[in-house]
Amino acid sequence: MGDKGINRRALGALAVGGAAAASLSGCERAGPTEATVKSRQFPSDFVWGVATAAFQTEGSPTADGRGATIWDTFEKLPGKIKDGSNADVATDSYRRYAEDVDLIAGAGLKAFRFSMAWSRVLPTGSGTVNAAGLDHYERLVDACLAKGIAPYATLFHWDLPQALQDKGGWSARDTAKSFADYAAAVAGRMGDRLKHFITLNEPAVHTVFGHVLGEHAPGLKDIALLGPTTHHMNLGQGLAIQALRAAHGDLKIGTTQALQPCRPAGGAAAFWNRPASSGLDALWNRAWLDPLLKGTYPGLMDDFLKGHVRDGDLKTVRQPIDFLGVNYYAPAYVKLDLASPSHIAPGAPPKGAELDAFGRQIDPSGLAEVLKMVRDDYGNPPVMITENGCSDPFGNGPAVIDDGFRSQYLRRHLEAVKSAMESGSRIGGYFTWTLIDNWEWDIGYTSKFGLVAMDRTTGVRTPKASYAWFRQVATTGTLPTA
Ligand code: FCB
Repeated sequence: MGDKGINRRALGALAVGGAAAASLSGCERAGPTEATVKSRQFPSDFVWGVATAAFQTEGSPTADGRGATIWDTFEKLPGKIKDGSNADVATDSYRRYAEDVDLIAGAGLKAFRFSMAWSRVLPTGSGTVNAAGLDHYERLVDACLAKGIAPYATLFHWDLPQALQDKGGWSARDTAKSFADYAAAVAGRMGDRLKHFITLNEPAVHTVFGHVLGEHAPGLKDIALLGPTTHHMNLGQGLAIQALRAAHGDLKIGTTQALQPCRPAGGAAAFWNRPASSGLDALWNRAWLDPLLKGTYPGLMDDFLKGHVRDGDLKTVRQPIDFLGVNYYAPAYVKLDLASPSHIAPGAPPKGAELDAFGRQIDPSGLAEVLKMVRDDYGNPPVMITENGCSDPFGNGPAVIDDGFRSQYLRRHLEAVKSAMESGSRIGGYFTWTLIDNWEWDIGYTSKFGLVAMDRTTGVRTPKASYAWFRQVATTGTLPTA
């Protein structure tokens, strides 16, 4: 991948340009990509939930002995965050978690996917456990259970303890072992009540944007880190799954992957872009799915991985999971770039493609495509959709409370989910991203993905129209036609 100032929209729609994207308020226009469904009724045990992440919501960066994370360091570097903001307050959810749980209950949702900050549990990433950090998550878990909400805890959503980064982060093999120790500490303390675990969130994004493109923490730009970072995250995941199962035999364990169909820019005619799109597919999708579900790496990863995979590693990496978490926002368009070390560069979606405010193409057929890939190429494992959603228009403007575009986005993607289920996919639930407008990594507070708006001065939360819409869907299990 070339160093071309790529941001995260790149993998969806870079070349279309931010100006065009920013003027769109979302998803009103019907695209040619609608899925057809036989029935609009979801099964009664389908899990409806909402997803968040610690660093984007908690704030309170030093409370109760929390250690520094790589994002605390990165957000303070000049020019790294679009609006110059930081996540020191975010949605203040470390202190206001009970209000968040009330909002989730009020939306009729039965599941909450949140992440734990590793550095609250182990301030330096390994060694001494910080009981006060675990106390917080225990209170959160108990608050969920008291309201009939199943907690789904993600163990790593990009906020690596800085102390581990200082020793090489995920490019160092020891981090895999520390991750398993952290998983064991959490399960040991609360695995009697916290039954759903997600090991990693979108490790492809963390690897590529954090270690190759430098757009995310830890801000490294080195293609040589692609192989070791990928492998050590896979290895850490395998060891963590083993540790979790050793702590409690009845846990439901999954992982969350950012799956994207990788399409050659320019369509079928641009056949020279095809090797680039298969290259991205290998490092973005299959470098995570293959080792976990088949015990192999795609051949295209061989050069990157040379010297990092030891005997027996692939056996450790290939662990049984209870569900595969699929995050989906948009397809990726890719073109060949001989000047970049990976020969991969972002390309444009087809002319006239419908874009969301993030600048990514709105294309529910991409979700159908990745669900089919999981079904056909990976033995049809149980799936949970662990993230899907869209942003308000970019900028520092007020949140759009009457956000019909968001309900339309969710409806169209839920149709793709239902249609995949009717074709045999074993999809057990859907978590929308996200509960409250929060701090969106390198673009700070300039994007708003929430069902609920927040006044950043007072912290007051205001549900948007989509909150009521999603409540209706979750409580009836029926998808409206509009
Ligand atoms: C996903 C991330 C999540 C948030 C959404 C918009 O890729 O997992 O933290 O940034 O995108």
